[in-house]
Amino acid sequence: MTTRDGPPAGDLDPDEFRELGYRTVDLIAEYYERIEDRPVYVQADPGRVAAAFDEPLPESGEDPDAILDAVEERVIPYATHNPSPRFFGFVMGSGTPLAPLADAIAATVNMNVGGWHPAPSGTEVERRCIRWLAEAIGYPPDTGGLLTSGGTMANVTAILSALRDRTDHETAGPGLQGNDRPRYTLYVADHECHTSVVRAADMLNLGRDAVRRVPSHEDFTMDVAALERLLEDDRARGDEPFCVVGQAGSINVSAIDPLDDVADVCAERDLWFHVDGACGAVGAMVPEFESRYEGMERADSVTLDPHKWLFVPYECGGVLVRDRDVLARTFAMDASYLRGSIAETPEEFDYYEFGPQMSRGFRALKLWTSLKHYGLDGYRDLLRNGVACAERLDALVRSHDDFVAVQEPNLFIYSFRYVPADLQEVLADPPAVPLTRVHRYLDELNQEIADEVVQSGRAFLTTTAIRSRRALRMSICSHRTTASDIETVFDALAETGARVDEEWRERASLPV
Ligand SMILES: Cc1ncc(COP(=O)(O)O)c(C=O)c1O
Repeated sequence: MTTRDGPPAGDLDPDEFRELGYRTVDLIAEYYERIEDRPVYVQADPGRVAAAFDEPLPESGEDPDAILDAVEERVIPYATHNPSPRFFGFVMGSGTPLAPLADAIAATVNMNVGGWHPAPSGTEVERRCIRWLAEAIGYPPDTGGLLTSGGTMANVTAILSALRDRTDHETAGPGLQGNDRPRYTLYVADHECHTSVVRAADMLNLGRDAVRRVPSHEDFTMDVAALERLLEDDRARGDEPFCVVGQAGSINVSAIDPLDDVADVCAERDLWFHVDGACGAVGAMVPEFESRYEGMERADSVTLDPHKWLFVPYECGGVLVRDRDVLARTFAMDASYLRGSIAETPEEFDYYEFGPQMSRGFRALKLWTSLKHYGLDGYRDLLRNGVACAERLDALVRSHDDFVAVQEPNLFIYSFRYVPADLQEVLADPPAVPLTRVHRYLDELNQEIADEVVQSGRAFLTTTAIRSRRALRMSICSHRTTASDIETVFDALAETGARVDEEWRERASLPV
């Protein structure tokens, strides 16, 4: 029972806090209510955004209501509205509705899920989430694993585990400083290799060249025969391959590698098999997609990010590592100040001994509440919707004379090109004009189409390179997107393409 007269210094009066809380909840509710009407992207020039925050560090405190005014007046208006149903950039989850509430509660209780004692329920909620994620995708449920800041740290965690587990060298002590060590190499399909794999090699001091690119097939999946040849060649040269990364939903085209075949190659050679399913691994929870992922259950580790296709807001990445002892051998550290609390039973384990972070936030709460809210069935429907939207987009692309499909609609990320029908003919039938000029024109045209549609606020999308050519890329990673959003955006792209092509064609000295 407190005898204090008023709140502790630094806290708010409970009634004042409630008022601010109600105001914040109203803001969130209104934000979701109006999300479909907001322009997805504000055309704010960087100078104006910087000017909005150009103020001195306050010498004395400000009124909390005025601070919330500033959030409403300056932060929200200059935000890109990633939760919009027409946000198709990068691979960004649309934000599940219970998550803002869960985050507020996590911040209130402020558990540090680095250790069991500072976070008994936090540890158990995260452990349960890892178990549920594994179960959902058909991976052994008693797996090790943890939530991370994102897919990059998940890949780093898995690849460091691979290095520790599958190389002879004691990399934890001397590290990679010994002169007599071979070059440790890892393998990933060339077209769709995500930069986070290269980042992992970089951060682990393997050198970026340690990431060996395996040729891929027409459909962007790994050519496993080429993988075997590359492994043989590298071994013959004195390299020490230790890990193969299979993709389960790649960054540009949602490709899923032949995971079972990759698993065979790894098993034969005692290589660590990591699946980068940051984007797409969760698709395995949908029964009719399950067969595409065959072999993923054999992986030593799987990256899968709830802040992508499970729509949980940032940050919430994740990695499953089949053998939790490997994680323990990789990450355990001993320090007297960490051993100072009540003796622990094996159930009371500390997450800081299983991953790279010491202090860790309670990001599991927003995932746990989202998994409970939708359940597997609810999530399956949301994932099916994303794939159906990609299929609708593919159908629109294939039925329009001025668009060209470059992939099958594998999961939810879909790339395609605007190529006016007459230029398709020019490309098919070696032309009077140099082909390089046509290619350059089309690259610039596709970029301009994306830029103009984004600047109009109607949708946010990006471009990417598909076999070295600029393509439009849409990541349909929002549970709010419907077929009608896809049709609206497609119409905007077609209309912009036709207009810009007409304006540019003569200037580009191409046939009109
Ligand atoms: C296949 C793949 N792996 C890893 C990552 C890295 O994830 P994050 O951005 O959460 O670090 C991404 C990001 O888009 C990705 O697409």
